[in-house]
Amino acid sequence: MSTLRILGICGSLRQQSLNRRGLEAAAELLPPGLSLHTTSLAGIPLYDGDVEAQGIPAAVLRLRDEIAAADGVLFASPEYNFSVTGVLKNAIDWLSRTSPQPFKDKPVAMFSVTGGPVGGARNQYDLRKILGCLEAIALPRPEVFIGLSATKFNAEGQLTDATSRKVMSDQLVAFEAWIRRVGQPAPQ
Ligand code: FNR
Repeated sequence: MSTLRILGICGSLRQQSLNRRGLEAAAELLPPGLSLHTTSLAGIPLYDGDVEAQGIPAAVLRLRDEIAAADGVLFASPEYNFSVTGVLKNAIDWLSRTSPQPFKDKPVAMFSVTGGPVGGARNQYDLRKILGCLEAIALPRPEVFIGLSATKFNAEGQLTDATSRKVMSDQLVAFEAWIRRVGQPAPQ
């Protein structure tokens, strides 16, 4: 069976982002049928219809092509004020203006790492709604909410909490099965 290519997208730009560290943990926990490449949302300008009228920015088109070439997208994002980060929403707004729109029929999964106790659940349900608008096909479960992050990562930024690693590992196994069930082959 072919290896499925997963694109990791982090909704936080900061260097020491624990969500990006979460994607590093996911890379360690991948089942053999998945590979993971993580991209960055750095360099994507704020959406502005006047900028769009001059042409879609190159950083957006690059991200669009990365998504199109992936068999599935794995979002790792903190929650800001009970919802999706502005950085991530802005990138999705730009992507929604590209053609072909890359999330259409794309299998997606998500996890969140937050300082607070709820683990980003509110952010994930808003993200599911936004991605539903774009006809992405979101993995229903297992859900992965890593709250109280200070107790789950060590000083080097490694995800050390055994329960979090187990649910993340279970989600990746389910995501592979989900892509093989609902996904369309991505262009090579
Ligand atoms: C937060 N944080 C936060 N946490 C949470 O659990 N619920 C929330 O609504 C918010 N809101 C929020 C807003 C803003 C503007 C910031 C900067 C932070 C805390 C957040 O979860 C924590 O800083 C994460 O560690 C950020 O993720 P990265 O950057 O480590 O990936």
